Amino acid sequence: MCGIVGVLGTHEVSPIIVEALRRLEYRGYDSAGIATIQEGGVLDRRRAVGKLVNLSDELVHNPLPGKAGIGHTRWATHGGVTVPNAHPHKAGRVALVHNGIIENFATFRAELEAGGYACESQTDTETVAGLVNVLMDQGMTPVEAVRAVLPRLEGAYSLLFLFEGEDDLMIAARKNSPLAIGHGDGEMYVGSDAIALASMTDRVTYLEEGDWAVITRAGATIYDEAGKLANREVRKVALSATRIEKAGYKHFMMKEIAEQPTVVDAVFDAYLTPDGDAITMDLPGVDFTKVSRVSIVACGTAYYAGLVAKYWFERYARLPVDLDVASEFRYREPPFPDGTLSVFVSQSGETADTLAALRYSDGKAAKIVSLVNSPESSIARESDVAVAIHAGVEVSVASTKAFTAMLATFVVMVLKAAVERGEMDADTLAERLTDLRKLPGLMSHAISIDGELSKAARKVAQAHDVLFLGRGQMFPLALEGALKLKEISYLHAEGYASGELKHGPIALVDKETPTVVLAPHDGLFEKTVSNMQEVMARGGRVLLISDARAIAQAGGGVWRTITMPDAPELIQPILYAIPAQLLAYHAAIAKGTDVDQPRNLAKSVTVE
Ligand code: F6R
Repeated sequence: MCGIVGVLGTHEVSPIIVEALRRLEYRGYDSAGIATIQEGGVLDRRRAVGKLVNLSDELVHNPLPGKAGIGHTRWATHGGVTVPNAHPHKAGRVALVHNGIIENFATFRAELEAGGYACESQTDTETVAGLVNVLMDQGMTPVEAVRAVLPRLEGAYSLLFLFEGEDDLMIAARKNSPLAIGHGDGEMYVGSDAIALASMTDRVTYLEEGDWAVITRAGATIYDEAGKLANREVRKVALSATRIEKAGYKHFMMKEIAEQPTVVDAVFDAYLTPDGDAITMDLPGVDFTKVSRVSIVACGTAYYAGLVAKYWFERYARLPVDLDVASEFRYREPPFPDGTLSVFVSQSGETADTLAALRYSDGKAAKIVSLVNSPESSIARESDVAVAIHAGVEVSVASTKAFTAMLATFVVMVLKAAVERGEMDADTLAERLTDLRKLPGLMSHAISIDGELSKAARKVAQAHDVLFLGRGQMFPLALEGALKLKEISYLHAEGYASGELKHGPIALVDKETPTVVLAPHDGLFEKTVSNMQEVMARGGRVLLISDARAIAQAGGGVWRTITMPDAPELIQPILYAIPAQLLAYHAAIAKGTDVDQPRNLAKSVTVE
């Protein structure tokens, strides 16, 4: 979850590293630090707790010269948020930045302390630097020392070492945590992902599991886990530096909410014919007539996308779906009946629990399909079929456009399954595809009611608790709406299936507690009206987000209404993501929280 950068440059590297860390800050923002090799081979570092801006300030007062350096932005795992726990860690002649967890670090700490080394931090990382330094003190070269230490490390890591006296050397290693090497002209770079390197190079080599690399300005020599020379491809990645700017918006989250009509268009461009009247999605080796059940596994917002897909697969393709949160999946030891299609959903493609669940399913499921935003990610590479969701880079920690892109990708997959299984005839498919074509326009309309949502959000932000209700395919939207609100406004919020309210949660209803009801006009709306009445009868305030027809039918007593455009039933869950996101966004603005980088969170959760 931390971000790593390294540069062997031809100019001063501190400003370059800070800029790259800015692109990685989404991975963690508890502290940041840089180490460089200065004139005469001296290794020095600067570190600061809190956001990257604090490190920048520190560098203004205390510049760090040098043309070789490594940097880090931290999401704390071992040890509190303090300067001694901030990376880079340093032991003797070795500086190290790390993402992941070294599970057996306590043994190393004991070993080092027995040898007279006093650890400065509480981190697992420092012990690895310490082990390498001990071996160098015994006469090994940096390469020999790192090679000897790597096999001892248990857990997940990406590591990047820098060595005193070595102005032209970095050593990188990867196990269960991504790392990219960037190739420049007479310069070399390392980053947790290609986004970090976007302003420096578009030529990137991804390390594979167990790989480690000796990097000089002349290039990288890569070894596999067995120590054999490995030939890894240099790819040209299509990432422009400008794509991660705010483009005039105050926050990335708002920019990404506004991008959703374009993103959904891009998904349909990728998976439908140009006029949208036929499906072109290719899932090599997946024959839906032979699929007996679908297993969907994901975390957080991606899980809620999977929950919508469950409603769709079961209803339209008559395929049973089991859905799991990834962190529970393999501990549940689920059976895999013949014909199980395993589907993993992940924006980052690096979520540790989802990746572990995928690896657990490998060899048990008939096929492994992933829906991912990053086609180069570990989850994409380890799937039989990786289906890109085409959301583009998502910077805001709270996921928005990736959610709707996942849904847009799923809806095409479901229609394909329905047709292949003979559950949908050509005429119905044509109608459903017409529905899909309406979506980008309807989404733009929904974004334009931002002002109304902002007013409602200011009121909601004054509450302590907020309930979200949805029924049928809108139930996952209630869960997603509550998650978004919790994440960025720190308000306590819970999502429930409307009918479940009276089985307990209704005890929470009082006149201070807003209940947000996401309920377009559909066959279930009358039942939802009854549930709203139950809330209002107990003094509860209902914020109804619905279309004009349903709002008219809801009757009096509703606290506030937000009128959404009329939409075909199939696409309602995608459309209603927008008011849920905007409500959370404006509540966060009203509360004055850090919208793009909410406390305690990180964008890419690469630890279990
Ligand atoms: C919520 C959010 C998280 C992620 C979850 C899975 O806004 O962003 O709940 O959805 O951490 O991440 P990915 O999709 O990268 O596997």
